[in-house]
Amino acid sequence: MAMSTTSPNSLLLKNPNRHLINPPTKTSFPIKTQINSFPINNSSGPKKPISIACAASPQVQDRASAADAGSERVFNFAAGPAILPENVLRRAESELYNWRGSGMSVMEMSHRGKEFRFIIEKAESDLRTLLNISSDYAVLFLQGGATTQFAAVPLNLCTPSDAVDFVVTGSWGDKAFKEAVKYCKPNVIWSGKSEKYTKVPSFDGLEQNPDAKYLHICANETIHGVEFKDYPMPRNRAGLLVADMSSNFCSKPVDVTKFGLIYAGAQKNVGPSGVTIVIVRKDLIGNAQEITPVMLDYKIHADNNSLYNTPPCFGIYMCGLVFEDLLAQGGLVEIEKKNIKKGQMLYNAIDESKGFYRCPVEKSVRSLMNVPFTLEKSELEEEFVKEAAKEKMLQLKGHRSVGGIRASIYNAMPLAGVEKLVAFMKDFQARHG
Ligand SMILES: Cc1ncc(COP(=O)(O)O)c(C=O)c1O
Repeated sequence: MAMSTTSPNSLLLKNPNRHLINPPTKTSFPIKTQINSFPINNSSGPKKPISIACAASPQVQDRASAADAGSERVFNFAAGPAILPENVLRRAESELYNWRGSGMSVMEMSHRGKEFRFIIEKAESDLRTLLNISSDYAVLFLQGGATTQFAAVPLNLCTPSDAVDFVVTGSWGDKAFKEAVKYCKPNVIWSGKSEKYTKVPSFDGLEQNPDAKYLHICANETIHGVEFKDYPMPRNRAGLLVADMSSNFCSKPVDVTKFGLIYAGAQKNVGPSGVTIVIVRKDLIGNAQEITPVMLDYKIHADNNSLYNTPPCFGIYMCGLVFEDLLAQGGLVEIEKKNIKKGQMLYNAIDESKGFYRCPVEKSVRSLMNVPFTLEKSELEEEFVKEAAKEKMLQLKGHRSVGGIRASIYNAMPLAGVEKLVAFMKDFQARHG
């Protein structure tokens, strides 16, 4: 039935941006990158592919610093769910109501329809391009967060009596180990706990078990700010290295062939919470323990192209937009350069503060994603967080287990956000030093 053009509902539906003070207009998008359009041609849909700009293009850097200029956006330093590229959010907003002329939001689509198939296949293909993932690996879009993978990995790769080596460089590696205890025989071959998780071990000194099924690391410890800059050579017979890359996924190029399996929750660098990405060598699939729930069995998901059951469709769509954006910025080589610049700026500010600010992590393994630091006068930390929030810099409080301050500066954090934080830190020191 046609809707009356005079009903209040129709007015609401006609203006999906009515709640926005400054609704996005076509011309408000800096034009940079053409996105492939889905081949639907219907009269109500956009006639041309919509264009978006790179997150770090000068135009968008300017837009991001609109956080200074009275816009409702803030600089969000949260560890996850975390900041997303502003242009990706705008793009999603523009497609929310009617995805590319389909007459539906992505949230309303059948996951088995051609539109969503296009979305998930494009997301996978763009991720493969970004990380140069060969056809020897399956790429799975799953649910349950990285925490579910703490169980799924041993369930899929081990028998209950198999040994596994764990290098534990922070709380997340520790949690992964504790979960694995239920499904195999893991052993911590190195732990940084006694040094408050501030280090990565020397790889030469690692005593690995040749009978271990795999060696597990957490590539970036989100709470402690410890990041592997290189990866240990697995010395187990199968030569298998497994990594939790939740908090540095797609922040730099990674040689996927060094890994049997990589897993990552999306909500730090590549999308909203609700999507977990698993990249697993295909020959490792198909040996799940009998007790493995169907939802944790990689073979089920690989055989069904991540569509065995209803996947987190909207989250996968958002990840796809982020992947497009990362490619448009020049791929992960360019992304890494930007991350190095931001990281150096922030760590320099800490190191040059004459002890007013301190980062406990050994310099060679400091994370480019999560920067933890303390104040010499710890009683000022609360004030620091409070004053920063007044300046529209949010979520700077350190994790409740370690205290202090933590600035998460994922891919989507513009340079302007780090510049503003550094300026604030200097000013705060001048006032309280
Ligand atoms: C490195 C790392 N691994 C695992 C997790 C757990 O992820 P999730 O909450 O998605 O299960 C997190 C969450 O912050 C994380 O940072």
